[in-house]
Amino acid sequence: MSSTTTVSIRNEGKVRYLTLNRPDKLNAMNQQLSNELSVALTAADRDREVSVIVINGEGRAFCAGADLSDSAGKGSSLAVADSIDESIAFYQQLVTLDTPMIAAVQGYALGGGCNLAMSCDLVIATDDATFGYPEVKLGMPASGVSPTLVHQIGRKAAFELLVLCENINATKALQFGMINRIVAAEDLMTQTQAMAQQLANYNHNALWLTKQLIRRCADMALPDALELGKDIGLKAKMYQP
Ligand code: COA
Repeated sequence: MSSTTTVSIRNEGKVRYLTLNRPDKLNAMNQQLSNELSVALTAADRDREVSVIVINGEGRAFCAGADLSDSAGKGSSLAVADSIDESIAFYQQLVTLDTPMIAAVQGYALGGGCNLAMSCDLVIATDDATFGYPEVKLGMPASGVSPTLVHQIGRKAAFELLVLCENINATKALQFGMINRIVAAEDLMTQTQAMAQQLANYNHNALWLTKQLIRRCADMALPDALELGKDIGLKAKMYQP
């Protein structure tokens, strides 16, 4: 498969692997990486041969967050604040993709890197993974990452992470409902492959429509969510051969 400078792209059957590829910088997200990842995600989401997307990181970290040196001569927090529109657009894209996404996390997942993992539908992490949101500690509002986290884990836990700014380990992340599974570092990719393959083996429409339903009904009152379930059930009936 093709690769860009900062994202390696490959297929394994119906699973598309997008690997952040700036290991020397712990896959910190500069503008190039977020642009290339965004383009790769759009392409994967439009490709009917792709049932599942896996996002992982090359090297010893998943992603150390926004690249704090990514600006022509600006101070770090100013650089991040300046790119807020692009960041939000990227995070909006992440949570509106139709394709189920799995994050495979090792080492650090910080700030925008943690948000990237939180935007995925399933997260598998190694037992030595570290999660955290250092934005406020760095003097920036956690404006890009807060909405996704609050939606995912609720106000109390999100406040603790976003405002105390203390990194947490995988066990605590599991308790907070941020991740689904903890595995040994050496098993990360085999376990991720197995999970991705399990999803890819299911009926494509059943999988995608269920993701759509989960995503949309999370923000609805229960009666409306049940109505949506009915609509999606009928839609699925139309897809039956
Ligand atoms: N932006 C730019 N470069 C980063 C980075 C980031 N967010 N995170 C790590 N790097 C770079 C380091 O500058 C270093 O590059 P160098 O070797 O050219 O000097 C390389 O990645 C390795 O990082 P290093 O700090 O040496 O590794 P470590 O294991 O000692 O520490 C961290 C790891 C994640 C604790 C530390 O790198 C860190 O605090 N990074 C910043 C995290 C952050 O604040 N993210 C922004 C959220 S808004």
